[in-house]
Amino acid sequence: MSALPARPAIPLGQDALAQLTRLTEGLDRDALQWASGYLAGLAAHTIRQADSAAPVTADAAVRATIVYGSQTGNARRQAEALAAELEQAGLPVRVLRADAYRLRELSAERLLYVVVSTQGDGDPPDDARAFVEHLGGRRAPRLPQLRYAVLGLGDSSYPKFCAVGAQIDERLAALGAEQLFARGEADVDVDTAAAPWRRTALTQARIALEAAPALATVTPLRGPATPRDATAWSRERPFMAPLLSNRRIVGRDSAGDVRHIELSLQGSGLDYRPGDALGVWPAQPPVLVEAVLAALRADGAEAVTIAGQTLPLAQWLSGRRELTRLTRPFVAAHAQRARSAALDAALVDDGALRALLDGHQLIDLLRRFPAPWDAADFVAALRPLAPRLYSIASSRAAVGDEVHLTVAVVGYEAFGEARIGCASRFLADRAEGDAVPVFVESNERFRLPGDPTRDIVMIGPGTGVAPFRAFVQERTETAATGRNWLFFGHRHFRSDFLYQAEWQQAHRDGHLHRIDLAFSRERPDKVYVQHALRRRGRELYDWIESGAHLYVCGDASRMARDVDAALREIAVAHGGHDAESAAGWLAALAAERRYSRDVY
Ligand SMILES: Cc1cc2nc3c(=O)[nH]c(=O)nc-3n(C[C@H](O)[C@H](O)[C@H](O)COP(=O)(O)OP(=O)(O)OC[C@H]3O[C@@H](n4cnc5c(N)ncnc54)[C@H](O)[C@@H]3O)c2cc1C
Ligand SMILES: Cc1cc2nc3c(=O)[nH]c(=O)nc-3n(C[C@H](O)[C@H](O)[C@H](O)COP(=O)(O)O)c2cc1C
Repeated sequence: MSALPARPAIPLGQDALAQLTRLTEGLDRDALQWASGYLAGLAAHTIRQADSAAPVTADAAVRATIVYGSQTGNARRQAEALAAELEQAGLPVRVLRADAYRLRELSAERLLYVVVSTQGDGDPPDDARAFVEHLGGRRAPRLPQLRYAVLGLGDSSYPKFCAVGAQIDERLAALGAEQLFARGEADVDVDTAAAPWRRTALTQARIALEAAPALATVTPLRGPATPRDATAWSRERPFMAPLLSNRRIVGRDSAGDVRHIELSLQGSGLDYRPGDALGVWPAQPPVLVEAVLAALRADGAEAVTIAGQTLPLAQWLSGRRELTRLTRPFVAAHAQRARSAALDAALVDDGALRALLDGHQLIDLLRRFPAPWDAADFVAALRPLAPRLYSIASSRAAVGDEVHLTVAVVGYEAFGEARIGCASRFLADRAEGDAVPVFVESNERFRLPGDPTRDIVMIGPGTGVAPFRAFVQERTETAATGRNWLFFGHRHFRSDFLYQAEWQQAHRDGHLHRIDLAFSRERPDKVYVQHALRRRGRELYDWIESGAHLYVCGDASRMARDVDAALREIAVAHGGHDAESAAGWLAALAAERRYSRDVY
């Protein structure tokens, strides 16, 4: 390949260099790697804020750009893995989160890979909203010079599977860009589709970039690297965390069951920050595995081989496959075997499919629409079990080597029987000393303000309150002087006020400055957090205008949308905005990282 690029002059004076050497002295390799990512992030931030008329570099012709949009880290991991693979192959590449990508660079870009998940009801992840809007807008440039490919991430239990990946793919083509190879669509067993897509992306990048002129003069570029985990534990290699405590924190007469779970991370080296989530690998409850085996009339001891791995059928079902969430591909495979007109009809009607996926678990489908299945085909058709994420409800500064979670245990009735949620039930059933396989999922988009004097407003009904327990603990331990305001809501004051005693104590101690509550089942007219926000609209607007950071956590389907609408209404009522400028006001807050959401 090409000659090495000329070494650039060091853009640091002697003093600055000496200072950097002093600061990094004694750091081990992992720490240095982390610091390099941190500094790259700072640099990218500075560049973003620099003169917006800065010229686009000529490097675009000879490098690949990877842009990712990711809510919970899966797309980011794939984008970073691809960047590492390209880099290892000696190809110039930069990887950027979508909100760090300067959109006007698109018209100079030559090779673009987009890795993006789908959230909400077919919506982009928060960090890719502006990217998707810009691309879809009338001002999007024509892109005849661009070659590209898209990897969409999604969950086939949603009808709009990988919708955002598809939308971006189609839009880039409509703008005149050339699709290099077919879009990848990764389900929650992300690597199954993502690994082959990455291999093709590497091959295509080799062809495209090695053919490009002037490679010898280009310095490999990296975008803002995200700090890598400093430990050996990961999603694929979880730490077995001993359970310390499992406490029900709602009253006996509550309609739901919410647990406060404490796990030990002692000896793991695992670290986390307020805002991060904990990934949990569950196992299916034996009673559900038995029920599925009975519905299939299958023997759990039967050996089943999938991709070279042989296990008893019962083991495949209990630890390796989803049984509580249905997916469209499985329904399609089952419909063929069941020869059911009702299933066939649902597969071509979005609404009916949504109702089917939402209202049935696997066992319901097997019983309502019996069909012959061979054990190996059945296991192969089921989706691999995926870990579940839980917002971390503790600060290390307060709890040391522990991690706390707030878990709503999914349980409901269907077809006259009790149905459960896999991971929440798994956690609720753990006793002291039991090991729970976990990993840390960092969330750089949900962080406390770097400036401890800033006020924060936390909107977290239900289990959405979890990260705010971590936030208040952290701000207490670090003696942050900014004020903390919590909006909490649930059904009943008496039975569902999660962490009531802790909030009251924090209020007394001056660590929680304001708390507003909305209990929906206390009065005939239901009151939710968005009503509480409107009630406090004037003060809330003043807090925000004085620099407060806003955080929203919890239900994505309704609450987050209603809160978003309430915030825009507040800007109209108290900030002199009209509907359009209120939306811009909120978008600007989000761009400044002063409006962050962690919704699910
Ligand atoms: C970033 C992030 C943070 C999160 N933080 C938290 C947190 O702090 N606390 C928390 O509790 N959860 C949190 N979650 C949600 C959590 O990850 C799980 O999705 C949740 O616990 C359910 O998982 P499960 O395995 O118990 O249920 P599953 O087995 O995945 O789901 C059971 C099935 O039952 C269906 N279902 C559920 N309720 C009903 C009903 N009433 N009627 C009919 N069908 C129903 C569901 O649609 C689903 O198909 C978070 C999610 C994300 C992405
Ligand atoms: C609240 C929520 C809504 C989601 N909505 C969709 C959807 O409409 N379509 C889809 O294909 N996937 C959907 N997903 C699944 C995610 O796209 C999938 O988990 C993906 O791997 C996440 O990647 P990320 O971590 O990079 O965001 C949703 C996930 C969550 C938590």
